[in-house]
Amino acid sequence: MNACIRAVVRTSIYYNIEIFGIYQGYKGMIDGDIRELKSHSVSNILQKGGTMLKSARCDEFKTVKGRKRACDTLKKRKIEGLIAIGGDGTFTGATQFYEECGIPVIGIPGTIDNDIYGTDYTIGFDTAVNTVLDAIDKIRDTADSHGRIFFVEVMGRDSGYIAIRSAIAGGAEGAMLPEKGTTDDDVINYIKENIRREKTFSIIVVAEKDSPGNSVLLAKKAKKELKNKDIRVTILGHIQRGGAPSAADRILASRLGLAAVEAIIDGRKNEMVGIINDEVSHVPLKDTIEKTKPFVKDLTRLIKILSL
Ligand code: F6P
Repeated sequence: MNACIRAVVRTSIYYNIEIFGIYQGYKGMIDGDIRELKSHSVSNILQKGGTMLKSARCDEFKTVKGRKRACDTLKKRKIEGLIAIGGDGTFTGATQFYEECGIPVIGIPGTIDNDIYGTDYTIGFDTAVNTVLDAIDKIRDTADSHGRIFFVEVMGRDSGYIAIRSAIAGGAEGAMLPEKGTTDDDVINYIKENIRREKTFSIIVVAEKDSPGNSVLLAKKAKKELKNKDIRVTILGHIQRGGAPSAADRILASRLGLAAVEAIIDGRKNEMVGIINDEVSHVPLKDTIEKTKPFVKDLTRLIKILSL
C-alpha cells in the first residue's frame, strides 16, 4: 500500500493537484485526521510493508450519520476527490459514500486475498504468495527428511488464490480451496492415493476459509485414518500480510496509484482501477462488490498433473 500511496502523491504533484492523506481510513475521515502530503512525505516508503496512513475498522462509517460526518469533513477541507485503497468492505463504504455525498471516489484493490472482481491482481497478493512459498520451501526439508504429511494453512477468507499459486510454485502435492468445495475426506483419500503411489511425504496447502485453524481439525481427522503417518500443521497467519513488497507488487501498486489519480482528473467516479491482461481497467465499484471473480480453472488442473 505504501508504494501505491507514493504513486498517488507523486502523480498528483506532477499534475499540480494538492493531495492529502487521510489517516486511519474512514475513521480519519470522520475525525478529520487529514494532512497535506508533499513529495518528501512519501520518500523511503516504497519498500516498506503496511501503510504509512495506518488503518482502522470503523463501524461509524457503516451508518448514514457517520458517512455524513465524513462528507462534511471533506467538504470543509475542500477535497474534491477521494481515492480509497482496500477490499470489498472498503468499496462498500466508498459506494455508499459517493451516493450520499457526491464526492467522486476511485477505488484501488488492495488485499492479499486477490478475490476482487475487475482486476487480475490486487496489491499485496504477490508478496503474500512469495512469503508462503518461502515457508513451503523450508517446511519441505522436514517433510522430506522425516517422511511426514504437512498441512500448511494460508490466508484467504473464502478465497483460494494464495493457496493455489503458492502450492504450484512450491511443488505441493495439493491445495484445498474454498472455490472447489473440497472436503476433508477428499483430501485424506488423495493423501492415501499418494501413499499408494509410494510418495514418502505430502505437503497440502489449505486455505483457511471462514476462520483460522480449520487445518488442525483436518489433521486430527487425517491422523485417525493414517495411523502410521506423522502429520503436522503449520498456520502461517499474519506473516503473510507484512514484509517488504515484491517487485511485482511495487509495480502494480505504482501503476494503480497513477491510474487512480488520472481517473479522477478524467472525471471518472465510483469506479475501481484494476489491471486486466496487463492493461489498466476501470470497473464500477458496484460490480466489485456484487460480482465474483472467476477462479482460474487451469491452475487446479496444473497442480493435479504436476504432483503425480
Ligand atoms: O485481508 C484479508 C485477510 O487477509 C483474510 O484472508 C484473513 O482471513 C483476514 O484478512 C484476517 O484478518 P484479521 O485477522 O486482521 O482480521
